[in-house]
Amino acid sequence: MITITNIKRVGSEKTESVTIEGGLIKGWNLLEEGDIIDGQGGTVAPALIELHAHLREPGQTEKEDLSSGLAAAAAGGYGTVVSMPNTSPVVDDPAIVRTLIEKAAGLGFARLRPAAALTKGQKGEELAELTYLKEAGAAMFTDDGRTNENARTLRLGLETAGSLGMVISVHAEDASLRADGVMNEGPVSEALGLPGNPAAAEAARVARDIEIVAGLHAQGVPARLHVQHLSTARALDLVRAAKAQGLPVTCEVCPHHLTLTDEALRSFDAIYKVAPPLRTQADADHLLEGLRDGSVDCLATDHAPHTRAEKERDLLDAPSGIAYIELAFPLMYTRFGETLGLERILDLMTAAPARVMGWAAPTLDAGQKADLVILDLTTERPVNPAEFRSKAKFTPWAGETLKGWPVLTVVDGKVAFQR
Ligand code: DOR
Ligand code: ZN
Repeated sequence: MITITNIKRVGSEKTESVTIEGGLIKGWNLLEEGDIIDGQGGTVAPALIELHAHLREPGQTEKEDLSSGLAAAAAGGYGTVVSMPNTSPVVDDPAIVRTLIEKAAGLGFARLRPAAALTKGQKGEELAELTYLKEAGAAMFTDDGRTNENARTLRLGLETAGSLGMVISVHAEDASLRADGVMNEGPVSEALGLPGNPAAAEAARVARDIEIVAGLHAQGVPARLHVQHLSTARALDLVRAAKAQGLPVTCEVCPHHLTLTDEALRSFDAIYKVAPPLRTQADADHLLEGLRDGSVDCLATDHAPHTRAEKERDLLDAPSGIAYIELAFPLMYTRFGETLGLERILDLMTAAPARVMGWAAPTLDAGQKADLVILDLTTERPVNPAEFRSKAKFTPWAGETLKGWPVLTVVDGKVAFQR
């Protein structure tokens, strides 16, 4: 049994305590029992839920592994992480899904809900064995990291996954439009003489995928499409319109697309290379508006660690990806606490991703699973990548002063992180 004392619930000034027993929340303000942890006046919330992280197991453990990635997630306040299947080999085999879940369960960090590949080898042609992957514990299907060029295969996948009650997430970029672009196409890419990736690559792909869903929906097929790391204003307008028509389409936005723009590439530093690319301030402003009006469903980080040597390569050769699961909440809270408000930010990182997945809404009521985070909303601290649990000990926000740092993360009633 654990009792966490000296904490406040969101919107309340009352100091309370919560007691946890057998993995569940036993109750509030009971006699303080068991091990006592001082919450130091922090704010308690359900543990964050991440729908998009690259943990690199199996096969790419020089970048990250389950232990470093899930420890990093817990340090970021996350209780649950959906890992991406673009590993080596690809997670397209039920045995791999089972191994990942078993391995993660023994670590004591964030809980793992692995996504499985939609197609065999993520090659985009032949569907993976979705039924068996679901049985093994796959949380969703996605070929993330690659784009679903074969529309017919995606359509079949949406039908099959829909009949299983599963979400398909898509990395929405048209490969032929994206071509060899390494950053957003626009005045900055032109000034730098770098190959651009146009907004139309994303918007055109989102339009195609929405049309596929619309056709299935009209036939009564329960397809569910989730657009990952949506980055452009035009793609968001398409999702907004699809929702207005009642189509089962959701989308996520990443904090890096809200806080960085293509101007950052003037440094020629590949730390800013990400797919889809950093866009313009107008895009970022539009995405923020989408978070406010509800047309964006949730936040996700797309934590995508690579080795320092890989990210120190030339922009043309470096792999895409930004890793920052440990600072996503402080970044959102520091930058947008005033505009969005604490409650909306927390919703976007807890209940909202649960809604996208069709999972029960996380709450802190007695009897519920004890997955919670204590956040210090006041102490300002500089981002120090040397302290990261992630193997990627570098980040665009190094040295920046942020507040809202998690001080304690509890997963399944056990301490998964304590600062
Ligand atoms: O920037 C990205 N990195 N985008 C992706 O879709 C894949 C990811 C990765 O695996 O590194
Ligand atoms: Zn992606």
